[in-house]
Amino acid sequence: MVVASPAPLRSKKARAAGIPVIDLSLERSKLCELLVKACQEFGVFQVENHGVSRKIISRVEREGQEFFSKPACEKQGAGPAAPFGYGSKNIGFNGDKGELEYIIMEANPHSISERSKSISPAHPENFSCAVNDYIDAVRNLACDILEMVAQGLWVQDKSIFSNLIRDPNSDSCFRINHYPSLLNLDDWIKYPSSQLMFDHPKTRIGFGEHSDPQILTILHSNNVGGLQILSPDGLWIPIQPDSDKFCVFVGDAFQAMSNGRFVSVRHRAVANPMKARMSVMYFAAPAPNACISPIPEMVSCENPCLYRPFTWAEYKATAYSLRLADNRLDLFRN
Ligand code: SIN
Ligand code: FE2
Repeated sequence: MVVASPAPLRSKKARAAGIPVIDLSLERSKLCELLVKACQEFGVFQVENHGVSRKIISRVEREGQEFFSKPACEKQGAGPAAPFGYGSKNIGFNGDKGELEYIIMEANPHSISERSKSISPAHPENFSCAVNDYIDAVRNLACDILEMVAQGLWVQDKSIFSNLIRDPNSDSCFRINHYPSLLNLDDWIKYPSSQLMFDHPKTRIGFGEHSDPQILTILHSNNVGGLQILSPDGLWIPIQPDSDKFCVFVGDAFQAMSNGRFVSVRHRAVANPMKARMSVMYFAAPAPNACISPIPEMVSCENPCLYRPFTWAEYKATAYSLRLADNRLDLFRN
């Protein structure tokens, strides 16, 4: 049975208040409450005072910038993107066209070290150190958030979610997206219709509408806007870019484990013609053989179990055979 996905930004009041910005230096019990509220009413929130050092973020961004500023033929050497490597324009496998280039890799030190050889042949260890340090820091941030959410839900095992991504076999991945501006000559040649776009501004999709399949996404971007989330009335709501904050998305697997109480919000990125945008993402995922199902505390007579159990490998295989904009989780409804 295919049913409508849960509505993001569920209450009018929540929408009017804007996407939550949660100050992680607040007192813990207050934080647990705020995080649960944000996961259920929005499926997305920003965090400030997150404790990840500016140095760690800047280093990874510098490595990304250095890579994307190379000539196309050098970048191709780190491709193809499926399943991991460098890719551009056509996002992945599903025909969604986007104006971006990206690198994607498994978030474990061995893969990162292998990938670094083609991404940064001159200094692979600089690239791998920057990415490993970044991943360690944002994984800790993701685990802290997941543990506070578990506490806020009054779940007995506070590590029930975080243990899935701390698992050494976790399928988490790391990605850097680069949405080029159209202001340099190369790009004007690459995008012949760009003058038209300035004359008749219309939205250019950088990364098409989708929800993230994993448990949690931790996203950092430079101060260039473009990220938008979809409201139930079909409006695209921009997320204010702020390089001092991380943006956190609930993913499909978290929606399933919360028995639909949390929402994996649909979002997209639009390209900015004037300024290049770069975003760095850590997708926190379980191990391939991990079983995803609504946790017992979220199931009751009033809230019957919405999803059948599935392994992460099964979910990924199904998800990747669908179009980006499809509601994959509906296929796993009871
Ligand atoms: C994504 O949603 O996976 C990409 C968003 C972004 O690049 O900001
Ligand atoms: Fe996403």
